[in-house]
Amino acid sequence: MTPRILVFAGSIRSGSLNARLAAVMAKELALLGADVSLVSLADYPMPLYDGDLEEERGLPENADKLARQITGHDAVFIASPEHNAGIPALLKNALDWTSRIGPPYAPRGSIYARRAFAIGAASPGMAGGQRGLIALRQVLELGLGAIVLPEQVLLERATKGFDEAGELRDLRHQGLTRLVARRLVEFISGEGLAKRS
Ligand SMILES: Cc1cc2nc3c(=O)[nH]c(=O)nc-3n(C[C@H](O)[C@H](O)[C@H](O)COP(=O)(O)O)c2cc1C
Repeated sequence: MTPRILVFAGSIRSGSLNARLAAVMAKELALLGADVSLVSLADYPMPLYDGDLEEERGLPENADKLARQITGHDAVFIASPEHNAGIPALLKNALDWTSRIGPPYAPRGSIYARRAFAIGAASPGMAGGQRGLIALRQVLELGLGAIVLPEQVLLERATKGFDEAGELRDLRHQGLTRLVARRLVEFISGEGLAKRS
């Protein structure tokens, strides 16, 4: 069966480095034969999570829509900026809202449970957003029960990392992106993972 993979970035900034990384990853996955959906969180605006709001109005429609995207694919790749050594609020908010689908505080029952993820980051800095990915990994694995590939993409000095066509300039960056794409496709052909519904 053709693997279906959802790809998005944790930034909606115009010119986002992580949106560019997401686009490169989408291309690499497609070259490996995956059916890829590249989406933007800009198309799923949600209010800041607030328990009173949830109590009064339930989940925002866009949380449901994004959750359907996630469950409609075999795996997800997230390219996320590092904000103050952590996860950007935009992405954390989307994860928090969508985590409220299904039994509350029950990672094994959440839409994320045993779903395969790969992650990457692009940063103008020297560390490539590594600390942000540690935080993202913690949320996905410990908080949500997802399975996150050990291999991850880190693009340091990413401001100069892409050419005019949006391709990666650095051979090491290219190799890393290809490796993670390949591992993700291989991984979801394995057993015991959440399949799309
Ligand atoms: C609030 C804030 C905090 C940031 N903290 C970090 C950081 O801890 N480490 C880092 O490498 N870059 C940090 N940055 C810089 C981002 O990596 C940079 O703005 C990057 O381009 C954001 O990703 P994007 O281009 O996909 O929007 C921060 C930026 C903002 C706005």
